[in-house]
Amino acid sequence: MCGIVGYIGPRSVVPVLIDGLKKLEYRGYDSAGIAVIEQGKVLVAKSVGRLSKLEEKLEAYTPEANIGIGHTRWATHGRPSDVNSHPHTDCTGVIAVVHNGIIENYLELREWLEAQGHKFKSETDTEVLPHLVEHFYDGDLEKAVQQVITKIEGSYAMAVISKNEPDKIVAARKDSPLVVGLGDGEYFLASDIPATLAHTRDNFILNDGEIAVITADGVKITDAQGNKITKEVFHVQWDAVAAEKGGYPHFMLKEIYEQPRAIRETFSSRISADNKRVVLNELSLTEEEIKDLRHIFIVACGTAYHAGVVGKYVIEDLARIPVTVDIASEFRYRNPIIHPGDLVIVISQSGETADTLAALRESKKAGARILAVTNVVGSSVAREADDVLYTWAGPEIAVASTKAYSTQLIAMFLLGIHFAQVRGTIDAAYAERLITGMREIPDQVQTILDDLEDLQSFLKKYAECQNTFFLGRGLDYAVAMEGCLKLKEISYMHAEAYAAGELKHGTLALIVDDVPVVALATQTDLYDKMVSNIKEVKARGAQVIGVTFKGNTELQKVVDHVVYIPETENVLAPVLTVIPLQLLAYHIAVARGCDVDKPRNLAKSVTVE
Ligand code: G6P
Repeated sequence: MCGIVGYIGPRSVVPVLIDGLKKLEYRGYDSAGIAVIEQGKVLVAKSVGRLSKLEEKLEAYTPEANIGIGHTRWATHGRPSDVNSHPHTDCTGVIAVVHNGIIENYLELREWLEAQGHKFKSETDTEVLPHLVEHFYDGDLEKAVQQVITKIEGSYAMAVISKNEPDKIVAARKDSPLVVGLGDGEYFLASDIPATLAHTRDNFILNDGEIAVITADGVKITDAQGNKITKEVFHVQWDAVAAEKGGYPHFMLKEIYEQPRAIRETFSSRISADNKRVVLNELSLTEEEIKDLRHIFIVACGTAYHAGVVGKYVIEDLARIPVTVDIASEFRYRNPIIHPGDLVIVISQSGETADTLAALRESKKAGARILAVTNVVGSSVAREADDVLYTWAGPEIAVASTKAYSTQLIAMFLLGIHFAQVRGTIDAAYAERLITGMREIPDQVQTILDDLEDLQSFLKKYAECQNTFFLGRGLDYAVAMEGCLKLKEISYMHAEAYAAGELKHGTLALIVDDVPVVALATQTDLYDKMVSNIKEVKARGAQVIGVTFKGNTELQKVVDHVVYIPETENVLAPVLTVIPLQLLAYHIAVARGCDVDKPRNLAKSVTVE
């Protein structure tokens, strides 16, 4: 977790660092800090709290410098505080370091360094880094960092400056992302591209084990031993405007409204013009290999995991291949039974989630073939997988994922239909209905967004509630899980998603007068059973908001309020059903006065375990 930035060039460094950090706050925002070299001295300013606190501090004195590093933190080791904020320095304040990741052997290293007289100020794992650099420094910062890397275990993206070499930033990465933005006579360092995008579209994406030595004259990339590496420039296709709010009060709302476009871009180049076939030319899996598939695992975290749950239903239903869906942090430690040739699909918006990446590596070791579904070109997951199916959602900034989820669902539909067509488990007419249905989704999502503009006033009465339940069966249950997560993460309201048929085995005890229940009823085969479950909660006094297809005139007789979505094939319904649930979470969070884009305790990209 955490975001790091760096700059060297002719501009005044402080505003460049602050602007870069603003773009990275999604990675963590419990404290922030910068270190610059001004007139031969390392100056550090840091503050617990949001970036604005640091800006306030800097108002008293803004250093004039042309080189510096910065950090926005999501605490792992040591609570958020001024002293635990980055940058951290060595004993004499000569060296400053920012770091994203976890140094797993820091306790051992700290004892070793303390025994040699190093004095520590913070509770962080990171602080061993400047002290290690100090220990190894022998007139060459680059060499010192090379040596540090041989001592540390864990994950890191780090940037180091020293007053002894005031024209240089040395940066290194392992398991945490880092890019170097290439300007004209100026260079930028960042955990993610949005932080460099206002200045350049050309970047070097560092690989694990690589070190970048950045001066105003250029960038040298080496391996961990100092051997020079020639890197290709990665040219970003999207611009800075795509990463801004564009008039919406929150990134989350903007991203909800971007879904028609994101969905269309994700499927449009992957279905044939006659709507008869899904064409996934980017996959190297052959038809024979698809026919031979015995078992698929889908592994992911958070919202991406919920997309995986939909993927299980869809792939099993259409392609008749058994699918196990797992939370990455569980999967990686549960000794899963993977056979060579099994397919492991990892889903990750960022492509950098530590647990997902670890699960990918475990699966690879076991001989599985890896297919990554990710939104970030060049991300770690994309680079380490055998195949990549990109979602084309564009940059997602709000911590709560919306357009990444709906495009992940499209990826699941594409895979399900493609596998089914190759294996001959669906007939041509059904495949065509599904593909035509997929083509209609962007307009249908737009219709829901237009119809639900008045949702805000209707939802106000729910903003005071303490508990909510989301019910569904089959695919509706999978979507209920995602709707429930959205509400919890941004509105801090307790919510539980339940398979409606399971409710009576315990949770029904919690349904009392006026408890709001969101009941999804789109799955035709399960509809009658769902209505029975709705009646069970109504009988206990629940206030029920039902979600069903337009044209259903029955549901309104059993619930308190109905939200209608356009009709589509049952399998495709999740991408429509989730839209009202995203809006519900958003409007309730706003009504409760929550910080929608930056919910407490969370971060968008979780690059630690
Ligand atoms: C964090 C974010 C979630 C996201 C999850 C997985 O918890 O807050 O929104 O779903 O990580 O992230 P990924 O980038 O792997 O999809």
